[in-house]
Amino acid sequence: MKPPFLPKNCTYNEGPTGTVALRTAMANVVNEYFSPHEDISLDEITFTSGVTVLNESLALALCDPGDSVLLGQPAYGSFGNDLVQRTTVNLTLVNLENVDPFGMEAANLYEEALVEIKEQGIRVKFLMICNPHNPLGACYPKETLVALVKFIVKYNIHLVSDEIYALLVFREIPGRPNFTSVLSLDSEALGATHLVHVMYGMSKDLGCAGLRFGCLISRNAQLNHSLWPMCRFASPSDFSDHIAAHMLADTRFVAEFLAKSRVEIAEAYQRASRHLDKAGIPYYRHGNAGFFIWMDLSHWMPLEEADGDGWQAENILSQRFKESGLVMGTAKSYHGAKPGGFRLIFTLEEYVLEEGIRR
Ligand SMILES: Cc1ncc(COP(=O)(O)O)c(C=O)c1O
Repeated sequence: MKPPFLPKNCTYNEGPTGTVALRTAMANVVNEYFSPHEDISLDEITFTSGVTVLNESLALALCDPGDSVLLGQPAYGSFGNDLVQRTTVNLTLVNLENVDPFGMEAANLYEEALVEIKEQGIRVKFLMICNPHNPLGACYPKETLVALVKFIVKYNIHLVSDEIYALLVFREIPGRPNFTSVLSLDSEALGATHLVHVMYGMSKDLGCAGLRFGCLISRNAQLNHSLWPMCRFASPSDFSDHIAAHMLADTRFVAEFLAKSRVEIAEAYQRASRHLDKAGIPYYRHGNAGFFIWMDLSHWMPLEEADGDGWQAENILSQRFKESGLVMGTAKSYHGAKPGGFRLIFTLEEYVLEEGIRR
């Protein structure tokens, strides 16, 4: 597949939010793989140069200064930077480490946190989830998604679901769910059509982080319109648009690429979990998506050196890993509620993985 570049690709072309060709191709991918309750149309897709900047745009569009976003712990580390750094929005972290973060109890904890923070005069404007989850690598069951939607409707806040790992479910675990998109719920019946939004992109499932593409899929026309002027500051390049549109429109290529990725990721997961088991390292065992494993290294934290301070001990351990060539996300950097969590990216060559675990 070799997309021919045209003179118009050297211009502003159709503007900053993705060409019709790109949005049509992406709508087809979403309609094929996300099973939306009703087909997504190209007008309901807005492109930016990555999900990273989309987080910020949503924070600016949905929140007023001082408003807050609910985020369960642990969570993708950059949500903190992306939602907060250049905005006046705060995070309300919700400790889900003592419950199943994908279960009904989590929905109750979100509600408790919202009520508590409201009493302090702070308004929550949206709940952010990541499904499949980074760093846990697991998916939300449909019942929990429904409970979360009922919760946001009750308080008239928004639900933003980052589904950037949607198509990387690499194994079935009995009794655990595969990927269900919030788009597949009957939002209209739940009274949430204008409140539920999905972020998707090409950085993970399609391995194209360098193209810089993220999109919002939303049926809220007002929100979509409010994003457009912001997209001018973070529009994807028309060259990238052209490449991506060709790639996504090639349905056979997409299907074959995803199928191959899943097989290779499943094999890599088996190797990694085998090595971790052999080394006696505990880890979150319900992971079936993405390419990382959330390990619990609390047992190896040098607590004495850190005068019993767990976060300091995690930091010392992390520095020690860095000195021996291992760089991993930590509980601190992934909004963890307790120290000792480390994120292992397992899609490495076996000898690298084995050596990393040995070290
Ligand atoms: C959950 C999640 N969202 C968003 C991103 C970043 O996406 P993008 O490359 O589209 O900015 C990442 C990258 O690691 C991620 O893990």
